[in-house]
Amino acid sequence: MLAWLRPGICLLVISATCAAGQPAQAPYRMVAPDRDGIGKVYMGRQISHVMGHQGASWLERGGRRIEERTDLLIASLPLEPDFVVADIGAGTGYFSFPIAQRVPQGRVLAVDIQPEMLEIISKRILQSGIANVEPVLGGIDSPNLAVNSIDLAFIVDAYHEFSHPVEMGQGLFEALKPGGQLVLIEYRGEDASVPIKRLHKMTVQQAGKEIRALGFRGPEVLDVLPQQHILIFTKPSG
Ligand SMILES: C[S@@+](CC[C@H](N)C(=O)[O-])C[C@H]1O[C@@H](n2cnc3c(N)ncnc32)[C@H](O)[C@@H]1O
Repeated sequence: MLAWLRPGICLLVISATCAAGQPAQAPYRMVAPDRDGIGKVYMGRQISHVMGHQGASWLERGGRRIEERTDLLIASLPLEPDFVVADIGAGTGYFSFPIAQRVPQGRVLAVDIQPEMLEIISKRILQSGIANVEPVLGGIDSPNLAVNSIDLAFIVDAYHEFSHPVEMGQGLFEALKPGGQLVLIEYRGEDASVPIKRLHKMTVQQAGKEIRALGFRGPEVLDVLPQQHILIFTKPSG
């Protein structure tokens, strides 16, 4: 009946009926993979390959602090001393340990999908004596964090690798406390002079479109770094 009178409502009814008992399909599409991509496209962006743990030494390279002004990046984060921070795609923990020192009454959950990366982090915890870093094995479609458990999610150079950005994003939205923030750091996709492969960069427009679709507000854009955007999104508090 509604089909004749209100086609829009009918579509909603049909899709709700079809979805009954089945998880909603994320809006991905498959294409022939680019050299650096996995052939899976979300909102017009092809997802890149994951950087393997064999590249750990690149993350720890000596020139990184100057090239990327990682000191400035850490100083720019909206942290409080008791925050619980999730470093998603933590890699070797390059950022987890300095952030842990900025949250002495809080902790850093260092999440990665590669157990080899978490082994590196576990060794660093023992060597450094920094006890408020906790390695967490994530899944490709879940950060494996409890609901309403974190104040800030921090993602550096990893979001573009998420094979399931919608599912990961939903998990992060749920894990953040109301009013919590997601800080996304990606190489600037608008800037051809940044010497990074295309699929490993993101524009503000693309990131904004993807993250707002999850229910976040923003971003506040901090363009203080030589090569990357700092994009701060907020989970609404009510
Ligand atoms: C290029 S590295 C960046 C590491 C670290 N953030 C840094 O900047 O030094 C990207 C990391 O993201 C991880 N990763 C990819 N997909 C992930 C996912 N769905 N959940 C958690 N980590 C993921 C990879 O295993 C890899 O360690």
